[in-house]
Amino acid sequence: MKIGVPAKINLSLRILGRREDGFHELETLMVPVPDLHDVLVVEEAEEFRFSCDQEGVPTDEGNLVVKAVRLYERATGEECRRTVRLEKHIPHGAGLGGGSSDAAGMLMILNALGGKKLSMEQLSGLAGELGSDVPFFLKGTACWCRGRGEKIEEAKVEEIDVILAKPGFGVSTPDAFGRWTGSKELPGVRYEEQDCEGVKLINDLERPVFEKFPYLAELKMWFLAQPEVAGALMSGSGATVFGVLRDGADATVVEERLRKEMGDGLWVWSGRVGG
Ligand code: C5P
Repeated sequence: MKIGVPAKINLSLRILGRREDGFHELETLMVPVPDLHDVLVVEEAEEFRFSCDQEGVPTDEGNLVVKAVRLYERATGEECRRTVRLEKHIPHGAGLGGGSSDAAGMLMILNALGGKKLSMEQLSGLAGELGSDVPFFLKGTACWCRGRGEKIEEAKVEEIDVILAKPGFGVSTPDAFGRWTGSKELPGVRYEEQDCEGVKLINDLERPVFEKFPYLAELKMWFLAQPEVAGALMSGSGATVFGVLRDGADATVVEERLRKEMGDGLWVWSGRVGG
């Protein structure tokens, strides 16, 4: 069995406060990026084995895919006798939810192949244990996510064309949240809500993350200065910044200019979300 598991971007991310458990109370609109996806290849075997085509990705019990397998085994009492191969395309430390999507995909595959089936509610419970945005990836559609991120409500999002850009470095999610209290705005950078192609863009994590990585603020401001771009935002805790293209704009022209003016070390991707 082989499935593609999508990335996501956050079109809106509001932090409502810090919670007793150390997490932050969120209200975030996430939308899958179906054409940017990792691939999970699962085959019958004598015993469980996990591999990944990308060097540097841990393949031990620390990988979220392996954690998903162990959690599912414990919940059902069924041992996973399969090899799992992960082909990575979604960059790491990017705010694109790659690891979470891999974990959610693994839960769905196990539930499709296994003898005992868990309900969607049970599966969501397991997903929430794996990470705050894992339950979202079980849905496969745009959602408002609240609480820690695990309270999901399906949403309708207009179709938009986006360009994603990520520098060579990644951002640690706990570090981004940890810097939120007391963080300040950089002068000359736009943080306010943007009304853009029927979508309202805002991200409260920009303030702490831009303070530590001013290049990401520059990237956002670069997007906003382009005539083809209707709005720009950092996704999740970064380091990806995306631009929303105006109707009919040519992504390749903007991509070329982006590489030339902001450094050709950038990872750049363009495509459509929502609809
Ligand atoms: O849930 P997940 O493991 O993805 O979260 C990673 C880290 O991000 C948490 O350990 C926490 O520091 C931070 N976080 C948070 N509030 C959330 C989600 C994540 O503070 N709602």
